[in-house]
Amino acid sequence: MSDNAHLQLDHVVKHFGGLTATNDLSFDVKHGESLGLIGPNGAGKTTIFNLIMGEYRQDSGDILYQNQSITKLPTHARILKGVTRTYQVPRPFSEMSVLENIQIGLMPNQLREMIFQGPDRQKEEEIARNVGLSEQDFNRPPTELSIGDLRKLELARALATNPSLMLLDEVFAGLTLAEIAQIAELINKKRQEGMTFIIISHDLRSLEPLIDRAIAMSFGSIVAQGTFSEVISDQHVQKTYLGDS
Ligand SMILES: Nc1ncnc2c1ncn2[C@@H]1O[C@H](COP(=O)(O)OP(=O)(O)OP(=O)(O)O)[C@@H](O)[C@H]1O
Ligand SMILES: [Mg+2]
Repeated sequence: MSDNAHLQLDHVVKHFGGLTATNDLSFDVKHGESLGLIGPNGAGKTTIFNLIMGEYRQDSGDILYQNQSITKLPTHARILKGVTRTYQVPRPFSEMSVLENIQIGLMPNQLREMIFQGPDRQKEEEIARNVGLSEQDFNRPPTELSIGDLRKLELARALATNPSLMLLDEVFAGLTLAEIAQIAELINKKRQEGMTFIIISHDLRSLEPLIDRAIAMSFGSIVAQGTFSEVISDQHVQKTYLGDS
């Protein structure tokens, strides 16, 4: 365990019936670090995000954020502390507009202002523009957006919570190269501003330039960790993930 860990998983176990989704898992991410999380389908990557957010509760072990246990905190309290995520399958509120979806993200931090001054449309628009959503989509329902724009909206909603730790689940899936470049640029900008990231991605080529370090998982356990190239060249990773038999 290190002193400057931003987030720490300490012997975390999560079972679903007879299946062990995370198996005595321990790792940390440091302040301002960007950690890549890779592994085959069903390895337990998304489960880790669900546990960090408190959407699932681990069976044993502890999760610490800024050196304090958050295990007993509900999701909204974790978000208020600065932890946020995007979903592998985008989950906007479909009966609301794009901007209203972003407003929901802003709400916990700006509740007072919103009650007294109404929603901060300027702030919503600024976040929407920052992620590359175009003005003509601001008042549309998310059901009319392309997958690329839905992923941008996921990012916008997460950014609206003013996070210091951002968990990105398959942000690049289904995107064009131009959209990937746009989102990569945004992630790099936020990294420069000091935001801490854990990024899950099957798109290793897009992931590589965005991370300081990688962890590879298989069946709920860490099988390799280190720099991207160390992890990718690991024999176990080659076998279990890259299909080299
Ligand atoms: N709510 C749940 N109920 C039962 N089993 C679950 C649940 N969530 C996840 N699992 C199981 O836990 C294991 C890990 O799933 P998880 O979604 O974390 O994998 P993943 O690494 O994110 O995979 P992918 O790359 O396909 O997204 C899988 O076997 C999955 O079926
Ligand atoms: Mg997943």
